[in-house]
Amino acid sequence: MHSTIALSNNTQQYINLEEKYGAHNYHPIPVVLSRGEGVYVWDVDGKRYYDFLSGYSAVNQGHCHPKIVAALTAQAQQLTLTSRAFYSNLLGEYEKFMHQYFGYDKVLPMNTGVEAVETALKLARKWGYEVKGVSEDNAVIVVCESNFHGRTTGVVAFSSDPSAKNNFGPFTPGYVAIPYNDLVSLEKVLQDKNVVGFMFEPIQGEAGVVVPDEGYYTGIRQLCTEYNVLMIADEIQTGLARTGTLLACDYEKVRPDILILGKALSGGILPVSAVLADDSIMLTIKPGEHGSTYGGNPLACAVAMAALTVLKEEKLAENAAQMGELLRSELKNLNSAFIETVRGRGLLNAIVIKHSNPEAAWELCLALKENGLLAKPTHGDKIRFAPPLLINKEQVLECVAIIEKSLQVLA
Ligand SMILES: Cc1ncc(COP(=O)(O)O)c(C=O)c1O
Repeated sequence: MHSTIALSNNTQQYINLEEKYGAHNYHPIPVVLSRGEGVYVWDVDGKRYYDFLSGYSAVNQGHCHPKIVAALTAQAQQLTLTSRAFYSNLLGEYEKFMHQYFGYDKVLPMNTGVEAVETALKLARKWGYEVKGVSEDNAVIVVCESNFHGRTTGVVAFSSDPSAKNNFGPFTPGYVAIPYNDLVSLEKVLQDKNVVGFMFEPIQGEAGVVVPDEGYYTGIRQLCTEYNVLMIADEIQTGLARTGTLLACDYEKVRPDILILGKALSGGILPVSAVLADDSIMLTIKPGEHGSTYGGNPLACAVAMAALTVLKEEKLAENAAQMGELLRSELKNLNSAFIETVRGRGLLNAIVIKHSNPEAAWELCLALKENGLLAKPTHGDKIRFAPPLLINKEQVLECVAIIEKSLQVLA
């Protein structure tokens, strides 16, 4: 097995720059990208790759989608930021658009995913004190083990990943973690009257695309209703057509009380996130109690409306469902001794590598890169396969051939 690959001087100089002047908080695959279009990206030497990460599912609509870029450039020449000290001509239009698109009374716009998660947590606590009647500072929010909801000190407080937490404490109290995909544990923890919300990922993305059992979302919905607890779905990675339906919770036709969106809300163009809820929850936050300078800026509003329009116009959820089926069945047909599991829904998929070398998934990703496909391991032995949702049948088959060829590096 080869553990080093030759890089061009051109590529190496960009890597050296980041190494010298940037914080070392990531461990990228050694490829330097300078262009993207649809399902493809190109490196600084002009080599083309399939993008099988899609910016961690931000680029669902494909790289540099012309309609989203057109919305961005047109709005950038009109007005980009007002702050919320003033009204803008686009925010209300965007809010109405979001209401009609997702069916919630109100939206609270933010920027990055983790900010939307923080917003949802604050909202759940506020609702807990002011509507449910929990006594001051006693609200509890239930989360799942192996969750990934972002990187702020507030959110890593309830991570179970030591590398996300180590030496970042002390941590905020008020969270209880239960096993994922476990309704019995959920019901047990809901006996505590101070629980105000249960936050979960409909499919655990960073944990390696862990798909829960059929009925999990329905069970959560029933328990949250029964115990008067808010069902909070973090659909930042699973939402917006990625898993073959508009929202992953749509798979069981379940409606969360609080919906968190990010990533593909802008098609990978800008950080745009949102929290959606009905009035009885959303209006517990009053003027001056929460906000963000860039949240709801006109540029983001224009881009998000274009990004969401593209999802429907191009039937990307339907395509994700069909291409996902094809991808998983073709991967299973490879019958590779090195693939322990193929799993996923829609175009959020992962393989689990079986190999004596703990670096095997990384080695495979390097081989995939050499052969023209970019993917990244998560948690050691898992590799996510999540291309932009406009990928077609011929492209899926070509990618499976690349994967088959690359697996030889593990022999
Ligand atoms: C489910 C989930 N929640 C939250 C986040 C955090 O989003 P961001 O990196 O934009 O803060 C992510 C990012 O991967 C995610 O997958």
